[in-house]
Amino acid sequence: MRKYTHNNNELTLKNLNEEVCLKGWVSKRRNLGGLVFVDLRDRFGITQLVIKPDNPNYNDALTLKNEYVIEVKGKVVERESKNKELQTGDIEVVVSKLTILNVAEQPPIAVSYDDNSLEDTRLKYRYLDLRRPKQQHYLMRRSSITQTIRNYLISKGFYELDTPILGKSTPEGARDFLVPSRLYHGSYYALPQSPQIYKQLFMVAGFEKYFQIAKCFRDEDLRSDRQLEFTQVDIEASFVEEEDIRDLIEGLFVDLFKKEMNITLTRPFKKLTFKEAMDLYGSDKPDLRYGLTLKDPKTSLAFIPFLEDKVVRYIKVEGGANFTRRELDALTDEAKKNHGEGLAFLKYQEGKLTGSISKFFEDNDYIKEYELANDDLLLFVFGKDYLNVSNALGAVRRSVARSLDLVKDDEYAFLWVVDFPLFEYDEEEKRFVARHHPFTSPKHKDDLDGNLEEVLAKAYDIVLNGYEIGGGSIRIHNSTLQQKMFKALGLDKETVNQRFGFLIEALSYGTPPHGGIALGLDRIIMLMTHTANIKDVIAFPKTQSARDLMMNAPDKVDLVQEIELGLKKKEEK
Ligand code: AMO
Repeated sequence: MRKYTHNNNELTLKNLNEEVCLKGWVSKRRNLGGLVFVDLRDRFGITQLVIKPDNPNYNDALTLKNEYVIEVKGKVVERESKNKELQTGDIEVVVSKLTILNVAEQPPIAVSYDDNSLEDTRLKYRYLDLRRPKQQHYLMRRSSITQTIRNYLISKGFYELDTPILGKSTPEGARDFLVPSRLYHGSYYALPQSPQIYKQLFMVAGFEKYFQIAKCFRDEDLRSDRQLEFTQVDIEASFVEEEDIRDLIEGLFVDLFKKEMNITLTRPFKKLTFKEAMDLYGSDKPDLRYGLTLKDPKTSLAFIPFLEDKVVRYIKVEGGANFTRRELDALTDEAKKNHGEGLAFLKYQEGKLTGSISKFFEDNDYIKEYELANDDLLLFVFGKDYLNVSNALGAVRRSVARSLDLVKDDEYAFLWVVDFPLFEYDEEEKRFVARHHPFTSPKHKDDLDGNLEEVLAKAYDIVLNGYEIGGGSIRIHNSTLQQKMFKALGLDKETVNQRFGFLIEALSYGTPPHGGIALGLDRIIMLMTHTANIKDVIAFPKTQSARDLMMNAPDKVDLVQEIELGLKKKEEK
């Protein structure tokens, strides 16, 4: 198929004197002592070309500009001054024939090297941005990682099956994207937040091992690890328990990291209950690459007037006493942003305590209690309840780790978080909502008869370096229990019938016990390519403000379309 002899990263001294044909983009052109030097780039690399004045195409060579597309034929020769940075740096190609395949306008962003163009400009010209070697690297890694995962699952006997994009709302906790129906005005399809219900129906249908690289759509606020549409590796299996899914997924990551990064991961992965994770790290997706664990004071701090009726927890930052007032203020803001009421601190230096609450700590016993060494810093976060205080201190812990540079980019700390509460209380709606989704099984089938706040779920999340990279559960496979679950969530019979009648019915026709998981593919690729920005690993992402700047979407549509869909009336024309 290929009409050229080599990619631009291939030629070395082994190819000396060979006649070759190369294609690609002009990355750089320099004129030196009558010679024209061109860096020819494709997605593999760069090869240097030389065009001499006696070349019949010499005048064409003088017109070459960045991003022109060319084809050259020529001979491989050894370079006088070698470039150790380039794979092809020992050679150059002396061009005998140059053909300009296409010209190019001056690109609005620099393609051949990393520039600091604004992200918005890069996204507006995403096709040029994707031509940049760095971006090409991300997408090539994406392709390879996806294939390795797919091959692993196929090798384990999973069927790759797909499910509709136009469906009915599935409750995954985010807002749905809706598609108005042309034929049924006032009715809407919903884009899937995940293929959750469909994959359970595959189990009912007897496909006992399913997977899909699935596009999911959630209308939620965007963050550096969140997009409106993203990709899951969606998995479901019948006759499994929690350990079986964890076992499969550990195997998947061991295989993936070995093949893609030559890293040997150790199994089993660490496991913490939700409660342990919150107690120790103040997060249900803690980064375990560093310590700074959260602690409770042994002696109550209720003697400090403003802490009298507060929950107080703390972390000890060894050598943290040189944090400045400004840094401490920033940590206070962080605590407050994350449901804490405030932050107090103590510094221990040369036998003396200083800091916002030092005057209450004259007794040396406290120094013993906190096992303080010179230059230690204690950060106390206070608030009204244990979970909120832990959450706020967890955020402070992450900020401290970043400031102290404790986070090592090339370490991978996998963790399972298990035993999540099945429910969480929604203050706005004044009712319990499912923490995972309403199809998740309680630990025991009669749990729903007791105090809902205490019910644990057969649910598990997989966490890597502080990111939730997957979540799943064992499902409710019994129709009566599923109805009981909906009732516990405050849904009346009519709503249940209208929204989930088909599922309740399906469960009644002999549904095998089943469970599964969905991995966040974009986040996994992000972590494996060391970027903190999910947009880097998605070919055409939306901006933080949910726009496609290149195509200008979302956009207005023709009035005719709106009328057809029943969104506007004819008379509004
Ligand atoms: P969950 O909602 O936990 O579970 O999603 C699974 C994983 O998908 C990733 N993820 C996202 N990635 C990028 N942008 C987003 N907006 C986004 N939202 C989620 C996360 C998350 O862990 N149906 C269940 C799975 C199951 O029970 O099998 C589900 O979708 O990495």
